[in-house]
Amino acid sequence: MTPPPSPSAVLRLGDVSALRGRVRDWRRAGETVALVPTMGALHEGHLALVRHAQERCRRVIVSIFVNPTQFGPNEDFSRYPRVLEDDIALLAEVGADAAYLPDVATMYPPGFATTVTVAGLTEGLCGPVRPGHFAGVATVVTKLLLQALPDLALFGEKDFQQLQVIRRAARDLDVPVAIEGVPTVREADGLALSSRNRYLSTEERHAAPTIHAVLQRVAAAVRGGAATAPALAEGRAALEAAGFGPVQYLSVADAESLAPLERVEGPARVLVAAYLGRTRLIDNVAV
Ligand code: PAJ
Repeated sequence: MTPPPSPSAVLRLGDVSALRGRVRDWRRAGETVALVPTMGALHEGHLALVRHAQERCRRVIVSIFVNPTQFGPNEDFSRYPRVLEDDIALLAEVGADAAYLPDVATMYPPGFATTVTVAGLTEGLCGPVRPGHFAGVATVVTKLLLQALPDLALFGEKDFQQLQVIRRAARDLDVPVAIEGVPTVREADGLALSSRNRYLSTEERHAAPTIHAVLQRVAAAVRGGAATAPALAEGRAALEAAGFGPVQYLSVADAESLAPLERVEGPARVLVAAYLGRTRLIDNVAV
């Protein structure tokens, strides 16, 4: 009997020169490199990105950095889960090659003064309710891409607006990295995996799948080109009846521009952000 494969060691890279040196050596050996940016507290959603990356590239680096600039003053930066050794163990199991673990001073040295902002795409949905959030995301992701210069970087469709913002920033700034989106990984009951799900009480966890059920229902209702407003009003009421509140937005939007749609004529997405108790959940599905 052959023994099960033992998890390989994950290389820990702490700063930009270690990261660049490693990528350079892999490149010289003719190997392709993918980067999966994360904030840690890894779950099957993150691991799906790693597995997709492994299908595309020979080497996979996962960055773990809880980025302070993308959290608002009243958001969960300080209580965001930090479980580095668990994360490394999961990365070893799935066979990631390296973890890039910069500290705040590496990403934001004294005097740091440059921000990447993406207009248009950030005006709706999460933009107005999380001022500064997408600038924080676009800035840190641009830095991570330029630091590693991988062939490919992967992001989840779970954060659909984020994915579009990153695509736009990379395109606009000529960052020579291909960006790929990966479908959302869900629990059996439909709840999208999220590091924040661990904040949910037993009762809230029970109500949480309603968010996906409502998205599916709205998507089905508007698919044939019917007006979106009645389906959205019904969906909002269903969320509130299930204990969600406030519902920050429930919207049918163009899948490219994220502009709200009165009727669906091309590729579209249904997107939602709503609180369940103290936990803010977001999700989206294709129409
Ligand atoms: P984080 O929330 O840790 O997510 C890291 C990546 O995993 C993101 O691309 C996110 O969309 C993806 N992801 C999360 N849950 C998923 C799920 N259930 N299915 C598929 N993919 C999922 O998003 C961030 O970190 C940060 O904003 C970051 C991009 C790292 C910049 O700081």
